[in-house]
Amino acid sequence: MALRKLVAGNWKMHGLSADLEEIRTIAEASRAYPTVDVALCVPAILIERAARAVPGFAIGGQDVHQAEKGAHTGCTSALMLLDSGASLTIVGHSERREAQRENDGEVKAKAESALGVGLTVILCVGESLEVRERGAAVATVIAQLDASIPHESTEEAELAVAYEPIWAIGTGKIPTVGEIAEMHSAIREQLVHRYGAAGNQVRILYGGSVKASNAGEIFSIADVNGALVGGASLKAADFIPIVAAAALV
Ligand code: 13P
Repeated sequence: MALRKLVAGNWKMHGLSADLEEIRTIAEASRAYPTVDVALCVPAILIERAARAVPGFAIGGQDVHQAEKGAHTGCTSALMLLDSGASLTIVGHSERREAQRENDGEVKAKAESALGVGLTVILCVGESLEVRERGAAVATVIAQLDASIPHESTEEAELAVAYEPIWAIGTGKIPTVGEIAEMHSAIREQLVHRYGAAGNQVRILYGGSVKASNAGEIFSIADVNGALVGGASLKAADFIPIVAAAALV
């Protein structure tokens, strides 16, 4: 059976109180597409207000610390995210892997910590342009995936994987249909290798310059079970057509 599509927005460092109205508009408009799971991952400080503004709509974080609590200035634990009203979180986004130098081991610990409290996890992997150009994209991403995903898949909490080629993020460039198909199929194979049949239930999202104009084509690729959307998730007018495209396939 085909997996339900998940379309998640990553608001990155965007979002003030004034934007709660846009979140309400997105949540309201999403109800027209009940076959699609829709979520918005907002800055940690906005989670509680966003979750209160749109009861029943999935609000998530963009990162989580791996420790339960302790001396980690400026960090947010999985329980804190949950306590604020989040139901999911992104981990291992390339912007954090680069700017905060997060490595695969840390990303794995973050994923395990979030899954441990029952948060859905969107774990990001993706190659640089240099890696793509030297023909090592699949091997690199699979190695990254293997080192970042939790030991065991859990039944209660859900893991999703987002393939986000770094060179496609915010650039308007996207891989070819063949390149996305090849990568998603390799990720699926690795998930089944690691988790057995449960690996077929893990949703694999594509991320990087997803827009209304390319979403339909991307969603029709085998093993693309949704999208992680950056810039085009900030406004309902840009985001909802992507949700609508997911409902059509
Ligand atoms: P864009 O959709 O802006 O390219 O960002 C993708 C992304 O990084 C989502 O996590």
